[in-house]
Amino acid sequence: MFRLIISCIVMAALVSCKEKREEVPNQPKEESLYKEEYRPQFHFSPKEKWMNDPNGLVFNQGVYHLFYQYYPEDIVWGPMHWGHAVSEDLVHWKHRPIALYPDEHGYIFSGSAVVDKKNTSGFGANGKTPLVAIFTYHSMEGEKAGRKDFQTQGIAYSLDNGDTWKKYKNNPVILNDGIKDFRDPKVFWHEPSDSWILILVAGDHAKFYSSKNLKDWTYLSDFGKSQGAHGGVWECPDLFPLKVEGSNEEKWVLIISINPGAPNGGSGTQYFVGDFDGTTFTSDQKNPKWFDYGTDNYAGVTYNNVPEEERIFIGWMSNWDYARDTPTKKWRSAMTVPRKLSLHKVADDCFLTNYPIDKISGLTNSTLVNEVEVAANTSDTLQVEGLNQSEIRLRTAAKNFKLLFKNELDEAFVMTMDSDNQIFSVDRTLSGKVDFQEDFGAKKHVAPLNGIEGDVKEFKILMDWSSMELFVDQGMLSMTEQIFPTSPYHTLIIVNEDKQAPIAIESIKKMQSVW
Ligand code: FRU
Repeated sequence: MFRLIISCIVMAALVSCKEKREEVPNQPKEESLYKEEYRPQFHFSPKEKWMNDPNGLVFNQGVYHLFYQYYPEDIVWGPMHWGHAVSEDLVHWKHRPIALYPDEHGYIFSGSAVVDKKNTSGFGANGKTPLVAIFTYHSMEGEKAGRKDFQTQGIAYSLDNGDTWKKYKNNPVILNDGIKDFRDPKVFWHEPSDSWILILVAGDHAKFYSSKNLKDWTYLSDFGKSQGAHGGVWECPDLFPLKVEGSNEEKWVLIISINPGAPNGGSGTQYFVGDFDGTTFTSDQKNPKWFDYGTDNYAGVTYNNVPEEERIFIGWMSNWDYARDTPTKKWRSAMTVPRKLSLHKVADDCFLTNYPIDKISGLTNSTLVNEVEVAANTSDTLQVEGLNQSEIRLRTAAKNFKLLFKNELDEAFVMTMDSDNQIFSVDRTLSGKVDFQEDFGAKKHVAPLNGIEGDVKEFKILMDWSSMELFVDQGMLSMTEQIFPTSPYHTLIIVNEDKQAPIAIESIKKMQSVW
């Protein structure tokens, strides 16, 4: 009887609670989350508010961490925090509480994280291995006062695999002697010298430092004042060794983001292939090589401490030219899919390729189109519901062709293979909403075909609700673009302008949502 009375009271309370909840006006409905207009379905985006660069990419205790530049109060850039998400497979993400908040030294700008296995920092306690974050402090007061030393480097540590963080009491650990842009430290363990190496950017070049304990840093060297692209400020460096595919040769790759000065305007990422001896990075390369020829892959860096020594990269899928203006309401911007990096030699020259990790293709479920061949000199129109959340694969030796993704409003996103002019282009000028900012839809974006001429080329296209990622020949060429169609694309037109070669649409598959 007593039990019955209690359960009646509980039931009544629940009912009245529910009624109360229903009374609250303008409560966002839970089920609408991640179903909003333009919300990516298989890319990472924050639940709400502004996000830019990926930060502190590190694998630890079975978990891939993704920290990111985050402003929790608005959908435009503001006082920077480190947002945080975790994943066991780099595909499905769980949001975690904000990891790092601004403090008396400034906003928390981009940086990296390491697993301090030998407890070199002494932050470890009770047998717990510290996760150490190394980031830039940006002092707004310093900047406003017209000083040049307002960016310094600080550290913080976590003993619970990233859930809670403590800033180091003697921050900052690297001071600034008057370099206006002095930021984005990437740290990794360098076994041969038994030390930590830190690389940061200083306006038009990179600087290297070393440390035994992550707290005391010694300057080593500079790289890049007279090499590569210099149309803007260098940002978000990364440095790592990679084996040349099919050989035992090891080279070091230096990644540098630059803004502005990218090949198709605004923000972009260049790389250098060379050697690193523990002190100095050298490369014969005078001209930049570009990581991605689209306009929406910026500030990308790679994971530390990944098993099997794979090099996995995530970039911010936006561009400072229009990042603040894109037409989403609840959140702004997403990350690229995680991509595996490899080095390939073509005629004695080394190229860095980037290609979605296999687990992304594991998200394909229903096949929407299977094995359609478009003969030479013909075209075909496929009606495909679900193009905006799909993986498209094709193979062809056709030297000239077009792919048009269209909706009923005649909005079209167009890709063109133009071997006569040795270019591949993507054109979003009429792809949907483009007028929110003048540069976004101003011109088509072009990539040179060098390095990818071969007989048969293989194309993989990942379309999500507000992005397109193209990979030719396993990532020898990649182009990443944001798109905002007013209504979903449902028609794919393939125009084969080649006189001999057919185009094989191998498959179009629907991608599962990870949210
Ligand atoms: C790159 C960048 C970094 C900086 C961060 C600030 O997009 O400008 O250089 O640390 O964003 O949010």
